[in-house]
Amino acid sequence: MMREFGTIYEAIGGYETVERLVNAFYKRVALNTELIPIFPEDLTETARKQTLFLTQFFGGPSLYLEERGHPMLRRRHLPFKITPTRRDAWLKCMAEAIVEAEIEEPYRTAIYEKLTMTANHMMNTPE
Ligand code: HEM
Repeated sequence: MMREFGTIYEAIGGYETVERLVNAFYKRVALNTELIPIFPEDLTETARKQTLFLTQFFGGPSLYLEERGHPMLRRRHLPFKITPTRRDAWLKCMAEAIVEAEIEEPYRTAIYEKLTMTANHMMNTPE
């Protein structure tokens, strides 16, 4: 169990690394033809909320909870048609962002697996 040695958040380098990951991620979202139609043109606020969320998702301080309340992510995603294709596109952007943010193993795989489970849960529309 990795958590015996602390959190993923601490192990990858804390807030700065989460910010690097989120920036690398939305840079790709902004160019992804599957994702562009459902995201706002200005991704500043989206990225800021995602930084709060991923901080707590990786075991850091509960920044998202403090500002936005319980995540209820599936419910917050219901206004957007999330198809299997969009899930795949989202995860591809994340996989590349994890590499760009220089997150190393075993955290690279641990993070990707956690995100994959959550992304599966977010699908709400068939192809
Ligand atoms: C499966 C593919 C996914 C798609 C297509 C997707 C799409 C979106 C969209 C369109 C928004 C709204 C952006 C805005 O209006 O600012 C959003 C918000 C958000 N997403 Fe996702 N998302 C996906 C998966 C995930 C996953 C796996 C997570 C967490 C690990 C996540 C976390 C969030 C958070 C924290 C927000 C902000 C919610 C808020 O308003 O507080 N999303 N997502």
